[in-house]
Amino acid sequence: MNHVDPTQDRGYSIVSLSTLLEYLGEEKTSNILSSFKSHMESDTEMFLREKAIEMERRDISRTYIGLSSDGISILGYVTVSIKCLRVPDDNCLSNEALEKMNIDGATGIAQSYLIGQLSRSKDSPRGFGSVLMEVALRHLTVSKSAVGCRLVRLDCYEELIPYYGGHGFRPITRNDDGTLNQMMRLI
Ligand SMILES: CC(C)(COP(=O)(O)OP(=O)(O)OC[C@H]1O[C@@H](n2cnc3c(N)ncnc32)[C@H](O)[C@@H]1OP(=O)(O)O)[C@@H](O)C(=O)NCCC(=O)NCCS
Repeated sequence: MNHVDPTQDRGYSIVSLSTLLEYLGEEKTSNILSSFKSHMESDTEMFLREKAIEMERRDISRTYIGLSSDGISILGYVTVSIKCLRVPDDNCLSNEALEKMNIDGATGIAQSYLIGQLSRSKDSPRGFGSVLMEVALRHLTVSKSAVGCRLVRLDCYEELIPYYGGHGFRPITRNDDGTLNQMMRLI
C-alpha cells in the first residue's frame, strides 16, 4: 500500500455523517456504513455500523467519513465528542501539562474533547488514519475558538501508545492490567 501523499490528487473527500444523513436519508446512509471493513480487526466496525447514526442524531458525537473519490467506498472515519476527564493523583503528567489542563480543584475533573473512534479501511493507504486525525484536530480547534476548552483525550490499547504519541498525545496513567490507556494532548 502507498502512503498518503499530500502533493498528489487527494483521491478522497471528507464528509460529515450529518451531511450524509441530510442528503441520502437514514436507510441509504446506513447501507453505506455497513460496508465498512476496518483494515485491522477492531470494535470500530461495530461502532460505525450500529452506533454512529444514533449518536449523531442525539448530538452526542460527530463522525467524519473519508470517501473514495468515486464516492463508493469508505476509506475510514473519525468520531469526536465531549467527555470530561478525572485526573488521578498518581498520573504521569508533567506539572506544566497539569497546570494547562484547567483541572477543577474541588473535583479533580477537567473538561475535555474526546477522539472516540479512529479507523481506516482495508482499501485505504497507510497513513490515512493520520489524515483523519488531522481532520478531527482541525474541527476541535475550531470548537476551541468558538466555545473554549484546550484538552483532547482518548482511550487506547497499549500497542497504540507510540502511534498516538506521534500525534502529540501523552499517557495520563500507566495501566498494567490490560485495560484501555488514557491519553491527552493540548490544542
Ligand atoms: C489506528 C489507525 C487509524 C492508524 O492509521 P494510520 O495513521 O493510517 O497508520 P497505520 O495504519 O499505518 O498504523 C500505524 C501503526 O499502528 C499499528 N496499529 C494500528 N492499529 C493497531 C491495532 N489495533 N493494534 C495494534 N497495532 C495497531 C500498525 O500496525 C502500524 O504499526 P507499524 O507502523 O509498526 O506498521 C489504523 O491502523 C486503524 O484503523 N487501526 C484499526 C482500528 C483501531 O485499532 N483504531 C484505534 C482504536 S484506539
